[in-house]
Amino acid sequence: MQAKFPSESLTTLTDVVLPGETNPLNNLFGGELLARMDRAASISARRHSRRVCVTASVNNVVFTRAIPLGSVVTVESKVSRTFNTSMEIFIDVWIEDRESGIKNKANEAIYTFVAVDETGRPVPVPPIEPQTELEKQRYDAALRRKQLSLVLAGKMKPNEATELKALFVE
Ligand SMILES: CC(C)(COP(=O)(O)OP(=O)(O)OC[C@H]1O[C@@H](n2cnc3c(N)ncnc32)[C@H](O)[C@@H]1OP(=O)(O)O)[C@@H](O)C(=O)NCCC(=O)NCCS
Repeated sequence: MQAKFPSESLTTLTDVVLPGETNPLNNLFGGELLARMDRAASISARRHSRRVCVTASVNNVVFTRAIPLGSVVTVESKVSRTFNTSMEIFIDVWIEDRESGIKNKANEAIYTFVAVDETGRPVPVPPIEPQTELEKQRYDAALRRKQLSLVLAGKMKPNEATELKALFVE
């Protein structure tokens, strides 16, 4: 399969925060943001693989900044690394300042999607070639995150997680 670039899976979803989507502090409800990120990430996974894709895990979510009612929120996702059948998707969330239009980073998250056939069985995906510095950094750290996710899910023994051992053991 021919390699693709992360930019080919870039997905941008822009939407406003409405009253039914907020918590008692009038900020965006966390579960609503998770759903928006999942939606964008699933489109990125589909654009990369041209397959049906399912969420295998939510590896990391950082709710750094609250997102107030009425904000214009942009969720941007891209495939950061592929393995055999799985893809890591990196998601950046931005809030647009009403007056200046400048976008400030609010949150980020990392999801894992798996491409599947009609019966739900995992199928291989094209490799990926990172191009920008940021894409290369995210690509390089992805194996470590995959191993951590598999260990936490009980699908890999900690002593098999070579990349994690390299972090903690000399
Ligand atoms: C995700 C799913 C297809 C994986 O199926 P499986 O039988 O466990 O298949 P495998 O063990 O071969 O795993 C497939 C790939 O997913 C990866 N994977 C599985 N669980 C993972 C996890 N928790 N974290 C990171 N990667 C994971 C595997 O490492 C493998 O990657 P690779 O082929 O790129 O090396 C299956 O568990 C499933 O269908 N889950 C439900 C998905 C769903 O409905 N999501 C929506 C939730 S509402």
